[in-house]
Amino acid sequence: MRDYFARIARRYDLANTVLSLGVDVLWRVRASSIVRDWKPARILDLATGSGELARVISRACPGAFLVGADFCEPMLRVAREKHLSNLVVADALHLPFEAACFEAVSVAFGLRNMASWTGALREMLRVLSPGGHLLILDFGLPKPPLLFVYRFYLHRLLPLFASLLTGERSAYDYLADSIESFPSGDQMCRLLEENGCTNARFIPLFGGIAAIYTAERA
Ligand SMILES: C[S@@+](CC[C@H](N)C(=O)[O-])C[C@H]1O[C@@H](n2cnc3c(N)ncnc32)[C@H](O)[C@@H]1O
Repeated sequence: MRDYFARIARRYDLANTVLSLGVDVLWRVRASSIVRDWKPARILDLATGSGELARVISRACPGAFLVGADFCEPMLRVAREKHLSNLVVADALHLPFEAACFEAVSVAFGLRNMASWTGALREMLRVLSPGGHLLILDFGLPKPPLLFVYRFYLHRLLPLFASLLTGERSAYDYLADSIESFPSGDQMCRLLEENGCTNARFIPLFGGIAAIYTAERA
């Protein structure tokens, strides 16, 4: 996974914008306004990658101390070029932070790619203070009839366009498969609550193509 992202790091932002037709920008703004309303003093943006969500959250929460963590150094290099600071190379499954040191943890399009969703959730909850907030932005599957059109896009068109943009078709074949197997909607809320979260809820985006999940540390 780390190697995949290292290979596409330079073209990740462009590919993202083209393949999502620019709507990912709106999703990040929505996510950042939710984080802003929590008024956290310390925020961890996990799997921060090229720093797009971290950048938008920093702007929405100017007084907060934000740390971006990712295990792929080439992705963090792109984030550094956007003048983001406090970037840490770290594996989400073994975070180098003390317990309860953040009031909010965000993760956009990252949890799905992790080797253990429950292991990563446990680490996120460990570094969250009691009552702290978790926000997950990720892809899901819409309901029929949009599902049929979306699956055609996901499995046929997206890998084709992505290989033209990044030269890495296999990474985007993987993307389609990972979206198919990732829990979404109520299923994801159940996963969150079974792993120590309370008040898990979700906001479907674009007919369910993506969703924002929020929950609290019990
Ligand atoms: C699709 S990118 C998302 C980047 C960014 N959050 C965004 O919204 O554009 C996924 C990121 O997750 C990171 N990642 C995947 N597994 C990870 C792990 N176990 N620990 C830390 N980062 C991880 C990858 O290196 C990559 O930068």
